[in-house]
Amino acid sequence: MTVRLSRIQLALFFILLCPVNIIGLWWAVGSPLVMDPNSICRKAKRLAGKQAELCQTQPEIVSEVAKGARLGVRECQYQFRYRRWNCTSHNKYFGKILQQDIRETAFVYAITAAGVTHAVTQACSMGDLLQCGCEATRNRAPPRPPSSSSSSSSSSSSSSSGDGVKWEWGGCGDDVEFGYEKSKQFMDAKRRRGKSDIRTLVDLHNNEAGRLAVKLYMRTECKCHGLSGSCTLRTCWKKMPHFREVGDRLLERFNGASKVMGGNDGKTLIPVGQNIKPPDKQDLIYSDESPDFCLANRKTGSLGTRGRICNSTAMDISGCDLLCCERGYREETMVFEENCLCRFHWCCVVQCKKCLVRKELSLCH
Ligand SMILES: *[C@@H]1O[C@H](CO)[C@@H](O)[C@H](O)[C@H]1NC(C)=O
Ligand SMILES: *[C@@H]1O[C@H](CO)[C@@H](O)[C@H](O)[C@H]1NC(C)=O
Repeated sequence: MTVRLSRIQLALFFILLCPVNIIGLWWAVGSPLVMDPNSICRKAKRLAGKQAELCQTQPEIVSEVAKGARLGVRECQYQFRYRRWNCTSHNKYFGKILQQDIRETAFVYAITAAGVTHAVTQACSMGDLLQCGCEATRNRAPPRPPSSSSSSSSSSSSSSSGDGVKWEWGGCGDDVEFGYEKSKQFMDAKRRRGKSDIRTLVDLHNNEAGRLAVKLYMRTECKCHGLSGSCTLRTCWKKMPHFREVGDRLLERFNGASKVMGGNDGKTLIPVGQNIKPPDKQDLIYSDESPDFCLANRKTGSLGTRGRICNSTAMDISGCDLLCCERGYREETMVFEENCLCRFHWCCVVQCKKCLVRKELSLCH
């Protein structure tokens, strides 16, 4: 398998992942850097002339790619909020996660590739990009009424269900194909020198799994038209899944991730262990076991769990025993400011008071 890429993509990928890990950096400083393609592009000039060219010709896409990567990282932090590794990093530590080939690496790759697919597609639908827009539905088979089993095999662009309601494609469908292609172009760049082929295959597989978690789960939304709600015509369009749903789905794949190793030819991946069914395109794969993330470790990028908030009554991964790696925990009373006594004023203001709320928290030793 060969992955041919232009130097532009290579350079962009280089910028996204190393040596200054921008994804990590964005998060770590919470800066608007990600919103600003110019800073990316300024750095780009130092790396390759062609990168600067991409920045000049398609700065909007670069910007959406960056937004998408950030969307992915935010979702990663939500999904991993109760885990020992919580998808947090100081810039260089996040880089360490990406340099390994563990489950967590797989998740980060998948969720960022999914984020880019989602953000670019969303930008198309919003009319923010000149290169794309709503999905073209001219040649598509007519929609099927979601609740009806009537088959519609005609090739016209509308169909009728048994009750005489006419259906057609309309509205603004999400052009996920465009976002999918851009994510592929930007995220599947050939990996850094010194990376083995196997790792490259694994990363590319996980990127694709992430994109598919968006692309294969499009839903159909419809709207009724007709006099006084009579619904004589329904128009329908395709929408992407909510990104939370994408995150949930990828977390399931993370939990069921398959361990693989390289075949003798250096070009194939084979599942490790006997009688294990080969992973399909939507599964996440990895080749090395994760560290336990209990203690801070520069080499693995683990920040350790000291000081993390745990749940002393939960028996699952958020419970203190597991999260604190059996080092124990201390109780602490903390005071938070919250909105309270909110009142709705006609129309349309909500006024709240600020209250101080005490909370008992358990913190890992
Ligand atoms: C994640 O964990 C680190 C330490 O392990 C902590 O400093 C950080 O606040 C946590 N982040 C979130 C979002 O909980
Ligand atoms: C702690 O865990 C218990 C049991 O799983 C759960 O009911 C409770 O909501 C959790 N508390 C917090 C603050 O998450």
